[in-house]
Amino acid sequence: MSLPVQIDTHIPNDWAQGEMLDDIRRTFTNHPKVLRPKWLYDDRGSELFDRITTLDEYYPTEAERSLLLDKASEIARRSGADTIIELGSGTSDKTRTLLDAFWVTEQLTTFIPVDVSEQTLVDASERLAERYPGLSVQAHVGDFTRHLGHLPHSGRRLVAFLGGTLGNFYQEERAAFLGAVADTLDTDDWILLGVDLVKDAQRLIDAYHDSEGVTAEFVTNVLSIINRELGGNLPLEQFDYVPLWDAQEERVDMRLRAAMPVTARIEALDLDVSFDEGEELRVEISTKFRQEKLSGELSAAGFDVEAFWTSSASEDGLLQDSDFALLLARRA
Ligand code: SAH
Ligand code: AVI
Repeated sequence: MSLPVQIDTHIPNDWAQGEMLDDIRRTFTNHPKVLRPKWLYDDRGSELFDRITTLDEYYPTEAERSLLLDKASEIARRSGADTIIELGSGTSDKTRTLLDAFWVTEQLTTFIPVDVSEQTLVDASERLAERYPGLSVQAHVGDFTRHLGHLPHSGRRLVAFLGGTLGNFYQEERAAFLGAVADTLDTDDWILLGVDLVKDAQRLIDAYHDSEGVTAEFVTNVLSIINRELGGNLPLEQFDYVPLWDAQEERVDMRLRAAMPVTARIEALDLDVSFDEGEELRVEISTKFRQEKLSGELSAAGFDVEAFWTSSASEDGLLQDSDFALLLARRA
């Protein structure tokens, strides 16, 4: 049975023919070498991220899920939205909590998930179309830093950006992104952000250095992606995964450090790459937030912050008070 899912694709099937070439060349010819996190999410990367969300050490997913359970009805009522656009939707697993609340009030007509990871997006969209008969599911295979202009303009819209993905931007990128979302929205549309909060450094490090090594595999997988897509021979086993808590910038910095001098070749770029022993590839950051600063950033981007809810401790001891927050803001 074919389900009523519309798929719009804004990125070429073959990453290597597109933006990846230029971006990865920039990474390996710059000093320090810095990657963009969107390249982490091939099918394997998405699968590994999904496993991360089930780890005891990785508190954000459950903290956000319980907050969503608690606040979803209020979000539906206060926003009055009939269209939810989810950026970086992944499996949209937690999003069901939100959709359920909008569904029972019969206000939801359209769900628009946007992700670079095509298969994960298509699978999730089909599951949702089945769960909510009559809901228009319009999936966009796209980059939320480039393709917001393709999103539909009708209805009262709520943009959901969950999971703490806002923290994966560097500060300037974050400001540009929030500004671009504001430009896409009309007055009285809404944004719902799920953000991870500053907390004890050891819990943060544990969340990004799990005992099963899943995060290390997720981060290292980006080398396999570059090798496969661009004909490279970067030696995975010559790099160590090093997560650091940068207390100044209030972010976890996920790096791959060359355990020895490394040389490799990336054919599609006609580029020889070298790392000194100890040299690092900065793969991803995960910024942690404070209410006042983040609210200021939302105001600067053109939003009125209407609510900032923090998560509660759980009985099993895995979650502590104020681990995670949901921020609801209206386009001014
Ligand atoms: N929102 C989900 C998934 C978070 S993982 C959750 O809360 O659990 C981050 C997701 O963003 C992944 O599915 C990844 O494929 C997607 N992503 C990362 N960079 C992206 C980009 N530039 N444009 C669109 N999607 C992106
Ligand atoms: C998607 N993003 C919010 C995750 C995070 O926590 O920053 C990605 C991640 N990287 C390693 N673990 C999880």
